[in-house]
Amino acid sequence: MTDDVLRQAPLFNGLDETASAALESSMESASLRRGEILFNEGDDGDKLYVVISGKIKLGRTSPDGRENLLAILGPGQMFGELSFFDPGPRSATATAVTDASLKSLGHDALSPVLNEHPDVAKALLNQLAGRLRRTNEVVGDMVFSDVPGRVSKALLDLADRFGREAEDGIYVNHDLTQEELAQLVGASRETVNKALADFASRGWVRLEPRSVVILDLERLQKRAR
Ligand code: CMP
Repeated sequence: MTDDVLRQAPLFNGLDETASAALESSMESASLRRGEILFNEGDDGDKLYVVISGKIKLGRTSPDGRENLLAILGPGQMFGELSFFDPGPRSATATAVTDASLKSLGHDALSPVLNEHPDVAKALLNQLAGRLRRTNEVVGDMVFSDVPGRVSKALLDLADRFGREAEDGIYVNHDLTQEELAQLVGASRETVNKALADFASRGWVRLEPRSVVILDLERLQKRAR
């Protein structure tokens, strides 16, 4: 199971069995309890991580203490590579949203892998480009979209990664509190709750603790546009 999830990560792109096994043996395991901080924004970074199980949130804190979530990552996703490609402090704080297990690779072990395997370098560039594209969209949405539009988008993005077919719709176990959902959308908890309650009253979603069931995907997609 660990192997399967680990090898979905961009880090293993195009590697044959021998190279994959060699890379895997140079990685270390780590586990986190829910709420535990792996590293803080501003720390020195010397490792990148692949999520094996659970969920990790990447967030930033403003000088007055408000939090903004950049991303929620799940199994097979990687983080901690920015401070390798652009040497400098960690650009965000990584915290476990649920109990989580991870594999880590030292930045010093990454250079030889990139030199020997251009496919891995391409996969990491692809991930960086995807994140830049998504970040551009988020910045655009902060200017052009209202809060309900941003909430719909966030729910659809979470459904893409964590959703599974259920009897009456798509069951999305996001594991986020309402406060964390608000931090992900970049709005107050009250406004985000109001948008969610409105979606629920229209029958588009059903709200459950740390989960949501999407009942009307089409309407939610329309609201996200
Ligand atoms: P690093 O700066 O080493 O540590 C924090 C990590 O968060 C960073 O590497 C990236 O892997 C990840 N990260 C930072 N910004 C974003 C973003 N906008 N979207 C997804 N992941 C991000």
